[in-house]
Amino acid sequence: HPLDVAAKAAGKLWFGTAADIPGTGEAQDPYWAAEFNSTDFGEATPANIMKFVFTEPEPNVFNYTGAEQFLSFVEGTGKLVRCHNLIWQSELPTWITNPTVNWTNATLTAALRNHVTNLVEYFGDRCYSWDVVNEAFSDNPAGAYASNVWFDTIGPAYVVEAFDAATQAVKAKNLAVKLYYNDYNIEYLGNKSYAAQNLVTELKGRGIQIDGVGLESHFIAGETPDKASQMANMQAFINLGVDVAITELDVRLNLPPNATTEAQQVLDYYNSVAACVAVGDGCIGVTVWDFDDEYSWVPGTFPGQGYADLFLSNGPNEPLTRKAAYDGCLQALTGA
Ligand code: G3I
Repeated sequence: HPLDVAAKAAGKLWFGTAADIPGTGEAQDPYWAAEFNSTDFGEATPANIMKFVFTEPEPNVFNYTGAEQFLSFVEGTGKLVRCHNLIWQSELPTWITNPTVNWTNATLTAALRNHVTNLVEYFGDRCYSWDVVNEAFSDNPAGAYASNVWFDTIGPAYVVEAFDAATQAVKAKNLAVKLYYNDYNIEYLGNKSYAAQNLVTELKGRGIQIDGVGLESHFIAGETPDKASQMANMQAFINLGVDVAITELDVRLNLPPNATTEAQQVLDYYNSVAACVAVGDGCIGVTVWDFDDEYSWVPGTFPGQGYADLFLSNGPNEPLTRKAAYDGCLQALTGA
């Protein structure tokens, strides 16, 4: 069974992957492209090209050229798309971050809402969902709002404003698109997960649309929460009336891998996917953050770590080898 076929048989909407298109050029790698186009993947998330710096490089000047390249590569393969992301502290254009710009609460709120409105209305139902706000909470102290231009200027209301603008755009265009909050270190119960749960409650209390919470799941082999912990956390969100999705799964380890660390990685992949299966319909699907170590974000960000994805190759434009982690995912989906 290919992964997405097995995921659908298990009642999920998809097994998907991030793709950095046009970005890294992986779409021009015939081996990467063949695997991407296979029935292992029923969903694609743009790893970068819908982010603020690409889509609104100058004030109120929207550029969807790269995003359209991504969508034209994906559409026609029947894949759904998790659009990513509207408001984040990273990948911002200098017209937002330049400290000489004297933003006020009112002017930055207007810029935030204009960005959200434009993207939600432009892409419409070509997006299954939008990650409306990404990574608003800090790890230290866990669950506090992270300091960034949005929070520092607007306060916690920036999150509410983003979801409110998205809600209004959905209503104005009568869209089916689902609105998600997406973050990491919210895959297990703890202060950061509780902060995300409180956000869901607050938005719902205000009558603002929130349909789901994205559990990024950038894990480290041997430090991944176990299946029961992930299920309990998923259930806590589901109990609030939202879906969850595993949105950016990968499991990195110290290079080079050995038999012990690879076996641990397989178990960690298994536990995450199995939690999504076991918790039921409330966990709608699993997306890996690319499937090929060749194009993984990990080595560039964590020197000495890698081997995080389901496939490896000897370099760009070289055949892919399926890793044991792939079988761990498949086993979790099929229950075999
Ligand atoms: O493509 C250029 C390359 O031509 C250039 O030589 C190189 C030099 O820096 O940069 C390359 O672009 C990089 C791009 O990734 C493609 O690999 C950018 O510098 C780099 O900033 C960018 O990083 C992305 C990161 O988000 C920041 O936006 C990663 O690809 C992407 O995987 C990562 O994704 C995030 C999610 O959006 C949110 N959750 C965490 C996740 C991992 O950090």
